Amino acid sequence: MAPPKCLSKASLQDKTAVVTGANTGIGLEVAKDLARRGARVILACRNEARAEAARAEIVKGSGNENVMTSKLDLASLSSVREFAQRLKEEESRLDILVNNAGMFTEKSTTEDGFDTVLQVNHLGHFLLTNLLLDLLKKSAPSRVVNVSSEACNHGRINFEDINAEKSYDAFPAYAQSKLANVLFTRELARRLEGTGVTTYAVHPGFVKTDIWRYIPGMYGWKFTLMKPMFRLMMAFAITPEQGAQTVIHCAVEEALSSESGLYYSDCDVKQPSQKATDDAVARQLWEMSERMTGLSSS
Ligand SMILES: NC(=O)c1ccc[n+]([C@@H]2O[C@H](COP(=O)([O-])OP(=O)(O)OC[C@H]3O[C@@H](n4cnc5c(N)ncnc54)[C@H](OP(=O)(O)O)[C@@H]3O)[C@@H](O)[C@H]2O)c1
Repeated sequence: MAPPKCLSKASLQDKTAVVTGANTGIGLEVAKDLARRGARVILACRNEARAEAARAEIVKGSGNENVMTSKLDLASLSSVREFAQRLKEEESRLDILVNNAGMFTEKSTTEDGFDTVLQVNHLGHFLLTNLLLDLLKKSAPSRVVNVSSEACNHGRINFEDINAEKSYDAFPAYAQSKLANVLFTRELARRLEGTGVTTYAVHPGFVKTDIWRYIPGMYGWKFTLMKPMFRLMMAFAITPEQGAQTVIHCAVEEALSSESGLYYSDCDVKQPSQKATDDAVARQLWEMSERMTGLSSS
């Protein structure tokens, strides 16, 4: 059975949206949809050539010329700061921020000294959102949509070893980062109560995208063994356009304007695991993320 589609006919004329990782996969499909609705769309991507190719595709398909690209590498806190500064100088409003970019990989460390998966999937978006809060508040009602994953239900925030320096395994590291997305959405909603800025966490489904280009640990005999099983699983994956529907739903559906801090899948609210609704953990993660990104020194 095909997954549900976002049914909203909302126009985004005179609205501005930022989509991170918009050059491919789910992010590209979200950006296409927002452009078709008339929004000014900023494609926040780490590779300028890929971003330009996506821009051309979106403009051609939507007829909306108001699509821009801007360099953002979430694995670099200085790149996040430069992007946010540029955006605040060049844009007078921000109505929708879609924190979509994500990846998983073998163990690696960013220039800032953090686990790459944690920084790209959580810390980079945490810093970006905080740096853009004034613009979001000024443009309220506005929305922050964080693309998480069902993997959040299998994750745990390991405060003692958040960068997995003692032992690293790709799936727990990814699950931790996706749990962080849901806890961030929840704590952000609490902190933004009464401002008109609302937040949403999304599981897009099992989607056939480029994210599977790195399957950590799938080398040598493991790869030979797993490849047929993986091919079989992929036969059940949904398309990027289908995977984008819940993200679009959370970004534009008018009926959601009074909801904030919740977790969605198949264009509906879902109850994540108990770990993803623990407010004490959400607060602790917020404070740790503030220190790690330099937003707070205490
Ligand atoms: N596919 C699934 O089944 C699935 C399931 C659950 C959740 N998700 C989530 O959905 C989101 C989108 O993933 P996708 O499946 O569409 O994967 P994708 O096709 O691989 O797209 C990921 C995007 O993130 C970008 N990105 C990666 N590292 C970055 C960095 N350091 N700075 C800026 N951008 C970076 C990629 O840019 P490049 O093209 O330059 O690499 C790409 O544009 C992710 O958050 C993922 O965790 C996906």
